[in-house]
Amino acid sequence: MSRTALERGDTLPTAGRPEREAVRSMFTGIAPRYDLLNAVLSLGEDRRWRRRAAQLARLSQGGDALDVCTGTGALARLLRSKVGARGRVVGVDMTEAMLAAAASAVPQVEFRLGDALHLPCADASFDAATMAFGLRNIEDHQGALRELLRVLRPGGRVVILEFSTPDRFMRPLYGLYSRLAIPVVARALLGHSGAYQYLTSSISVFPAPPVVAGWLRQAGFEGVGFRRMSFGIVALHLGRRPELPPPA
Ligand SMILES: C[S@@+](CC[C@H](N)C(=O)[O-])C[C@H]1O[C@@H](n2cnc3c(N)ncnc32)[C@H](O)[C@@H]1O
Repeated sequence: MSRTALERGDTLPTAGRPEREAVRSMFTGIAPRYDLLNAVLSLGEDRRWRRRAAQLARLSQGGDALDVCTGTGALARLLRSKVGARGRVVGVDMTEAMLAAAASAVPQVEFRLGDALHLPCADASFDAATMAFGLRNIEDHQGALRELLRVLRPGGRVVILEFSTPDRFMRPLYGLYSRLAIPVVARALLGHSGAYQYLTSSISVFPAPPVVAGWLRQAGFEGVGFRRMSFGIVALHLGRRPELPPPA
């Protein structure tokens, strides 16, 4: 692989206020190794996290589901199994290289190139919308949450999977793992560790679940809550688009 700007580390996004083009450039660089890195760095836990996200979307056979920041389509694939052949799953991502991997791995899903802040989807067209490990990479989180609300049908569910604040007893271990193991694994698999320096710093500045729950309420969701998994390493944030008021 030739030495790209990403490998030199000069286009990395800023943790906490990630620039869109830097995020896209970073994911373009890691797309070929993304799934392998995920599995290795999470010690295989990432599959369990996404399975739980798909369950909590509470989809029925024949339902319509949207996965935003779909990446290589791992969660979209699970949503597909929930809605069955009569249902529909759309995956949206802004990075062509990630979507190309998704389209070849999960042909049963319709993938669309698009921005989470301007979803290429009609109003009120999905029963559930998910986003796994995307929100941390979007500076305008309120804009992204409002878009999820817009495309959900009244009563439709949102499920957001994101890294979180580990339990107190886990923190020292997790800190060591982030500082020592993640860069070594990333260097071994990618040839550099730039993107994974961003991963650890963006996780450390991402707010705790009650703050994210406040964001969801502020965007207009109701029934907001969260579930922590793996000692708080990740959290699943849940909400519902309010039902329409009965006609007067
Ligand atoms: C960490 S990956 C997560 C991929 C996948 N959801 C998963 O569970 O592995 C984040 C993805 O979000 C996408 N992304 C980041 N910001 C975006 C935006 N504003 N609009 C659409 N996609 C975005 C990136 O291109 C990348 O594919």
